[in-house]
Amino acid sequence: MTAVARPAISADATRVAEICTSAYRAAYQDLLPPGYIDRTVAVYFGAERVARQVPADPPRWFGYQVAEEDGRLLGAAGGGMTRDGVGELHLIYLDPRERRRGLGTLLLDRVIEQIRAAGGTEVWLSVFLGDAAGIGFYRARGFQPVETVQAGLSRADDHIRSLRMRRMLE
Ligand SMILES: CC(C)(COP(=O)(O)OP(=O)(O)OC[C@H]1O[C@@H](n2cnc3c(N)ncnc32)[C@H](O)[C@@H]1OP(=O)(O)O)[C@@H](O)C(=O)NCCC(=O)NCCS
Repeated sequence: MTAVARPAISADATRVAEICTSAYRAAYQDLLPPGYIDRTVAVYFGAERVARQVPADPPRWFGYQVAEEDGRLLGAAGGGMTRDGVGELHLIYLDPRERRRGLGTLLLDRVIEQIRAAGGTEVWLSVFLGDAAGIGFYRARGFQPVETVQAGLSRADDHIRSLRMRRMLE
């Protein structure tokens, strides 16, 4: 694989928003209600919001990281610290046509290195219950399930739950 992971720059924002939107819709169309998907995409993946979040604000946010191959952006991820020693992978999304060839691992490893460099000894993330692909990926990369919680943006009546997973860093 010739892809590299690097920090996003302002000029990447539109493509990052596009990747997150298409990956989110493709991954969850059979799992989540359309209204929830539309709400999430509108809140988190608008090009203007993504553009505002391109710059890092460490240690809370290390900025979007992108996977690039032959001049094309194929994936995006981002993480930060939630408290001393504890990191969080906030998002990781690939162009749906580019799954299963190591790009997710490339991006995950980069965010983990950022967390480690900031003194992190553990990494947490949320994944929707029922997201077999996401959970399979995280398990393969050393994360263990810890607890279930109500998903972000979930409303009391939609019962959407997330699994919190953790990996200890050696
Ligand atoms: C989840 C995601 C980031 C994984 O990235 P990826 O590049 O496809 O994963 P990799 O190629 O690095 O896979 C590494 C290992 O994870 C596991 N894995 C990956 N995808 C999997 C799947 N769909 N089902 C089960 N295990 C999977 C495998 O063990 C894989 O190794 P292998 O291909 O040698 O068997 C990507 O598929 C994606 O963007 N999905 C849509 C959005 C999403 O689900 N995000 C995560 C939830 S928040």
